Amino acid sequence: MAILEIKNLNKYYKQGKEQNHILKDISLNINEGDFLGIVGPSGSGKTTLLYCLSSLEKIDSGEITIEGENIKDFDNQKLADLRKYTFGFVFQFYNLIPNLTAYENILLANVIANNNNEKKIDELLELVSMTKYKDYFPNELSGGMQQRIAIARSLVNEPKILFADEPTGNLDQKKGNEIMELLTKLNVEKKLTIILVTHNEDYLKFCNRTINLIDGEFVG
Ligand SMILES: Nc1ncnc2c1ncn2[C@@H]1O[C@H](COP(=O)(O)OP(=O)(O)O)[C@@H](O)[C@H]1O
Ligand SMILES: [Mg+2]
Repeated sequence: MAILEIKNLNKYYKQGKEQNHILKDISLNINEGDFLGIVGPSGSGKTTLLYCLSSLEKIDSGEITIEGENIKDFDNQKLADLRKYTFGFVFQFYNLIPNLTAYENILLANVIANNNNEKKIDELLELVSMTKYKDYFPNELSGGMQQRIAIARSLVNEPKILFADEPTGNLDQKKGNEIMELLTKLNVEKKLTIILVTHNEDYLKFCNRTINLIDGEFVG
């Protein structure tokens, strides 16, 4: 079953007096359990697409349906709930809070979500192979380790869909592959649906579906 359906999505950004057509008539079905990789050069619209799909950005035309419900019918509260409970986010930069430990960074997300489930944090640390480093501060961890913590943090609400925007963008190929292996494990073992964008084709081998985005259009 499609968990997310996108029909004829168009997105424009104003630049000065010009309306730039960023996403051009994008249609796409994402099924539960997909690990979809969207690849394209810098500036092709990948981040904009992820923001539109996850309702962080408004679209100009088209339809986005999540589990059968059209999100244009959602009020702000329902959109906020969607981002908080149904979607998880991982970015190129880890955005960890520097004066909190790895454990506390995840705990904070857990508290914000009113989850009060500290056992869950230990499970998440284990899942991302970071138990040993739970009391380390972000600046004491490598980039790959910080990204593992950011991934654990994204999972505190048990999202159905994880949006990952260049999660390996700041890592060398070896560390990048390790992050992709972790995402694969989450996809296979936790049945997490993942939508990843990257400019690096080498990472697509981890995905079970791939799409090329060039200049705002799907090609090939
Ligand atoms: N907030 C914005 N306002 C105006 N133009 C934007 C904005 N965000 C992105 N763009 C433009 O949209 C295009 C696609 O950007 P982006 O989605 O970030 O591409 P990618 O993630 O593939 O590098 C680029 O030309 C960029 O300059
Ligand atoms: Mg981008």
